[in-house]
Amino acid sequence: MSKPIPVIAIDGPTASGKGTVAALVAGQLGWHLLDSGSIYRLLALAALECHVPLEDEAGLMALAGDLNVRFEEEGAYLAGRNVTLDLRLEAIGNAASKLAVLPGVRQALMERQRAFRLAPGLVADGRDMGSVVFPDAPLKIFLTASVESRASRRHKQLIEKGLPANLDSLLHDLRERDARDTNRAVAPLKPCEDSILLDTTTLSIDEAVAFVLREAQTRQLSTPN
Ligand code: DC
Repeated sequence: MSKPIPVIAIDGPTASGKGTVAALVAGQLGWHLLDSGSIYRLLALAALECHVPLEDEAGLMALAGDLNVRFEEEGAYLAGRNVTLDLRLEAIGNAASKLAVLPGVRQALMERQRAFRLAPGLVADGRDMGSVVFPDAPLKIFLTASVESRASRRHKQLIEKGLPANLDSLLHDLRERDARDTNRAVAPLKPCEDSILLDTTTLSIDEAVAFVLREAQTRQLSTPN
């Protein structure tokens, strides 16, 4: 039997740096990348544009089935339109977190996420990559940082992109979002038993990337390019 395509699952709360770390690790290894949050965000954007309420499970499931998305070098496309910047808006992140509590929505997005598992390997970041979507991943990292440092990182990111940002309201929103992502009944945000905890509060991005690559090498998953 052929060996399963390896997956590095990087889960953690919003603004923990997991997206940046995942992208850099994937680049170093020459592997594919799944930013699963962007799939939830794409559905949230489509729902807001099509006036599907964020609590309408059946309506959202239908929308998820029809979602016309494409990922290119330049970013994410929804029905042929580049929506990369729209996806980063806090309002879209918050809407994504709301529809993500619905079990039918999570199920409707499952295959879309699993389809990213292509040779030679996948680095996937999100909330439930290690626990639900890729439970057989040979390396699972739970990446976190204090809420204050996450708020200030997110603030910096938004300002750099020329998007509106206010530190106090970000801190408030992150706390609220953490609570919703952690307390939902299905696929809540929490470290799996077999995940490695990585607190990046006092680590640089490079140090976090080096940590993940070392763990990948220890497991003989791949030799970096
Ligand atoms: O990682 P992010 O901030 O882009 O994710 C946006 C929201 O989508 C997040 O608050 C909860 C949801 N999400 C999820 O429930 N499961 C995932 N694997 C990824 C994101």
